Amino acid sequence: MKIVALFPEAEAGQDNQLLNRDKAIGLKPFLQDKGHELVILNDGEADLEKHLADMDVVISAPFYPAYMTKERLEQAPNLKLAITAGVGSDHVDLQAASENNVGVVEVTGSNTVSVAEHAVMDLLILLRNYEEGHRQAKEGEWKLSQVGNHAHELQNKTIGIFGFGRIGQLVADRLVPFNVKLQHYDPINQQDTEHSQFVDFDTLVQTSDAITIHSPLTPETEDLFNDDVLSKMKEGSFLVNTARGKIVNKDDLVKHLESEHIQGYAGDVWYPQPAPADHPWRSMPRNGMTVHYSGMTLEAQERIQAGVKDILTRFFNNEPFQDKDVIVSGGQISSASYNAK
Ligand SMILES: NC(=O)c1ccc[n+]([C@@H]2O[C@H](COP(=O)([O-])OP(=O)(O)OC[C@H]3O[C@@H](n4cnc5c(N)ncnc54)[C@H](O)[C@@H]3O)[C@@H](O)[C@H]2O)c1
Repeated sequence: MKIVALFPEAEAGQDNQLLNRDKAIGLKPFLQDKGHELVILNDGEADLEKHLADMDVVISAPFYPAYMTKERLEQAPNLKLAITAGVGSDHVDLQAASENNVGVVEVTGSNTVSVAEHAVMDLLILLRNYEEGHRQAKEGEWKLSQVGNHAHELQNKTIGIFGFGRIGQLVADRLVPFNVKLQHYDPINQQDTEHSQFVDFDTLVQTSDAITIHSPLTPETEDLFNDDVLSKMKEGSFLVNTARGKIVNKDDLVKHLESEHIQGYAGDVWYPQPAPADHPWRSMPRNGMTVHYSGMTLEAQERIQAGVKDILTRFFNNEPFQDKDVIVSGGQISSASYNAK
């Protein structure tokens, strides 16, 4: 079979990385031993398109996605499986994959702790005004009013979790010792837990001091945090997004940060990816953005490597995938998270 994979470029000296074109999460010897062809792409555009006609499997990570659009899926008659080397399969047009009988699977759970830790870090960075304090330290300044004017404790704040699945719940667990008030919104997980109260979406938006987004990108969540919703957030509140860039409207967010209605935004997810050098989220005020790496810790990369090999082994042996990993199968979107409304 012809397996086509896109990974970030390898760089000299970065030898711990598994998710790059050099190590290719161990797929080179793994597939060679089994007699399959592995093509490692140089880019997710022209190079990907060269192989659409005869590829059987496509593999890419959400950090550096091969965008499998409807048009591309239709031009790939042999394609049977799209594997996400990580969590979050929205870079594949899931509806078109269903219609073209392409299965979509991911390594669910592989990096959830990594992302939850990053989201807690982002909340602290924003509330404590870390970025300004760090900037002054590096640039030889000591303007205490300028940093203290926007520095808050996390304690006693109301934190809203949008999407209360694996990552959302891990974030809640990690926030408990900070003595915050936790509330969540999720169309599936509507029950209160010991530490977090279920609220409707409007209440979450209007009463949270900070919101952290942990839903998948679906037709329901795309562009959800637009001018209308951002306007309803509390004056001076904060927004963290380690889920997907397209859940937040790019230009509306910048407007609300510039007016200081939203006091800060942090996260690691963008659209498109890699983000262009002039993407406005790189330079907007009070941002704690990073490149997309929250789920790419070395520990997570080990789990992603093992998970992709498990998926491929099952595929070659005609065995069922683990239920948790399946997003599209048998011509339909089967993941509850992606069907949630
Ligand atoms: N930044 C990163 O590196 C990174 C890594 C992993 C995952 N992610 C993103 O985080 C998302 C969540 O991951 P997870 O492992 O917690 O998935 P999960 O499936 O365990 O949880 C997602 C939750 O979102 C809920 N949801 C679905 N539609 C919703 C809606 N309209 N409104 C509110 N909630 C909704 C689901 O019901 C579910 O409970 C992934 O889909 C992915 O996009 C990002």
